[in-house]
Amino acid sequence: MRSAKIVGLGKYLPPKVLTNADLEKIVDTTDEWITTRTGIKERRIVEKGVGSSHLAYEAAKIALKRADLKVQDIDLIIVASITPDNQFPSTACYLQRHLGARCACCFDISAACAGFVYALSCAWQFIKGGLYKNALVVGSEVLSSITDFSDRSTCVLFGDGAGAAVLTASDKESFLSAYMGGDGSQSDILILPAGGSRMPASHETVDQKLHYIKMKGNELFRVAVRVMVDAASRVLKQAGLESKDVTLLIPHQANNRIIKAVAKRLNMPLDKVYVNIAQYGNMSSASSAVALCEAWEEGRIKKDDIVVLDAFGGGLVWGSCVIRWV
Ligand code: UT7
Repeated sequence: MRSAKIVGLGKYLPPKVLTNADLEKIVDTTDEWITTRTGIKERRIVEKGVGSSHLAYEAAKIALKRADLKVQDIDLIIVASITPDNQFPSTACYLQRHLGARCACCFDISAACAGFVYALSCAWQFIKGGLYKNALVVGSEVLSSITDFSDRSTCVLFGDGAGAAVLTASDKESFLSAYMGGDGSQSDILILPAGGSRMPASHETVDQKLHYIKMKGNELFRVAVRVMVDAASRVLKQAGLESKDVTLLIPHQANNRIIKAVAKRLNMPLDKVYVNIAQYGNMSSASSAVALCEAWEEGRIKKDDIVVLDAFGGGLVWGSCVIRWV
């Protein structure tokens, strides 16, 4: 039976580091508050003019090399991002241009922090269905471009980065299950209010700082734990597995307290949970992508291991998938 497997992973983090101490000089915050409430110590920030497609390109080159595939072999490119280079063309098209790929299907997915899980699941299904053979899936974000660095309730949380995965057709069943959910009735609790068709950019929207992330953190926190536990439980059940069978849970890196609460409810000991939020903060769709790559680079994912990705974000959207490493 035709399915898909991951054959290459890559990540790219811009070199510039913004520490909690740096933020203490910009807004009324402390390293102690940020560390205890979120687990974040520092995050990466791009230089001016760098877009999501540039970060995606760096991550994709590494993933392609590790996959031992040429760019011409790629027939599907999906980029998950809420900070695309432009509203259109898609960042996937820009990525294709940077890579020099030709004749690949290119599209973006807007599923916030769950974007990489959504994109991976789509690529898996496209390959399984026989439409494409080799897919490049990237989560890439320049969240610093939509972060209000005068708002302490959000600016301490976010960072920039990209992670990429190359999938190829395989007769081995590597993706064991996937589940994606959404609830548009709660769109307002995490939103970029202006710049779209409903509220195009104007002097007023700029004056009112409506091109920056607005977030009701407390409300999100409660939903995040519930839906991430639900999504991971569903995919494990679909795959006929239990928590004890999981080698590594890779949760979205929004808050260390959310991660711990999710792990506890799933009965997962923390040594089986991948956490890198201290170094990078919340990179939306790039968080899961970078974490998956980094976990693999650190040797925490080996052949036959069971890996669960579990993410949640603005939309609201959430998703989880189970991968047997082959
Ligand atoms: O990735 C997408 C999904 N995102 C999430 O799931 C995020 C979920 N939410 C969270 O992670 C947490 O709600 C936050 C980290 C955003 C906030 O933590 P919290 O424990 O919920 O804090 P809070 O918003 O209830 O604020 C507590 C206090 C407030 O002061 P008062 O009203 O108690 O005097 C805030 O003004 O902390 C204050 N505060 C800060 N103080 C110092 C808020 N931000 C800061 C800050 N530094 N950076």
